[in-house]
Amino acid sequence: MKEYITKIKTDFDSDLVNIKTTQDIVDIKAKYIGKNGCITDLTKGMKDINPEERKKLGMLSNEIRKYVTEEISKKEEEINNAILNEKLSKEAIDITLPGTQVNNGAPSILEKVIEDFEEVFMSMGYDVVDGPELEEDRFNFELLGLPKGHPARDAQDTFYVKGDELLLRSHTSPVQARVMLSKQGKEPVRIICPGKAYRRDDDDATHSHQFTQIEGLIVDKDIKLSDLKGTVTVICKKLFGPDTVTRFRPSYYQFTEPSVEMDISCFNCKGEGCNICKNTGWITIGGAGVVHYDVLKGCGYNPEKWSGFAFGFGAERCAMLKYGISDIRTFYNVDLRESQTFDRKEEN
Ligand code: DAH
Repeated sequence: MKEYITKIKTDFDSDLVNIKTTQDIVDIKAKYIGKNGCITDLTKGMKDINPEERKKLGMLSNEIRKYVTEEISKKEEEINNAILNEKLSKEAIDITLPGTQVNNGAPSILEKVIEDFEEVFMSMGYDVVDGPELEEDRFNFELLGLPKGHPARDAQDTFYVKGDELLLRSHTSPVQARVMLSKQGKEPVRIICPGKAYRRDDDDATHSHQFTQIEGLIVDKDIKLSDLKGTVTVICKKLFGPDTVTRFRPSYYQFTEPSVEMDISCFNCKGEGCNICKNTGWITIGGAGVVHYDVLKGCGYNPEKWSGFAFGFGAERCAMLKYGISDIRTFYNVDLRESQTFDRKEEN
């Protein structure tokens, strides 16, 4: 029996040298220490041997089992390490390769300008409200003094969506009618509404079929044109710098009477004349006026008691002037260089 155990050890040692894979490990375990392995078999026949012999044999078979188990687990560890190392070397990262460049994001210039407007108006007690971009003809035109067939409608080349009742709003002024109607002629109104508007314009450096306006409306007792002038002047000084001078030129809109065009002194040349202001010294930033008698009436306010002023700033125009952008399409073609330039300007 002793010789047999010695033979098992010799066989095992020579088998172990050839173990290369995890499957070899499984096989060698089965051959020697598995349920039907030759070392396991040793103990099976022991009950027929005399106690003295059995004890000796027991010790020997324990020894060989211990030896075989330890050797196999050493080998197993060796193989697993080799597999891991191979995997690691295949997956090694070449740190000399150039990385993918990730550009920093930056706030949109247009959003920033809108936020500036909101902040200044809110500090003066205005609420910021929203209105639908898909609008009814009634709000976009009729309640603003532009009945069907009115020639001035043609000036706002409108995108009609369904028949002649539903359209993409051609300006943000319909929000005025919506807000007034919601208050049922009872409360004062003081709102601004920044939002998108749409016209069937051909896109070029100064026109876009989609653009942004900042609409404003105030309705209260004794509101006059001079209140509009004062408010706009304060706002423009805050937004464009304390030296900014405002100018109001007579104009015509169906929903205001009188109506004005709002200009500010050119912040580039301070009124001397340059290419930004086309040598006039002035830059137009929007339209405004005293809310028309019929508009107040049509929107549920008694024009004998209430009065108001309204205005609409061109947001892209203000942003272009403030940040020296020469093409309105910059706002709609995502180009990080533009907003990053803006970021740097803000820092300075
Ligand atoms: N809605 C006008 C436009 O798009 C701008 C405007 C002018 C708005 C006068 C007003 C206003 O609120 O009072 O051309």
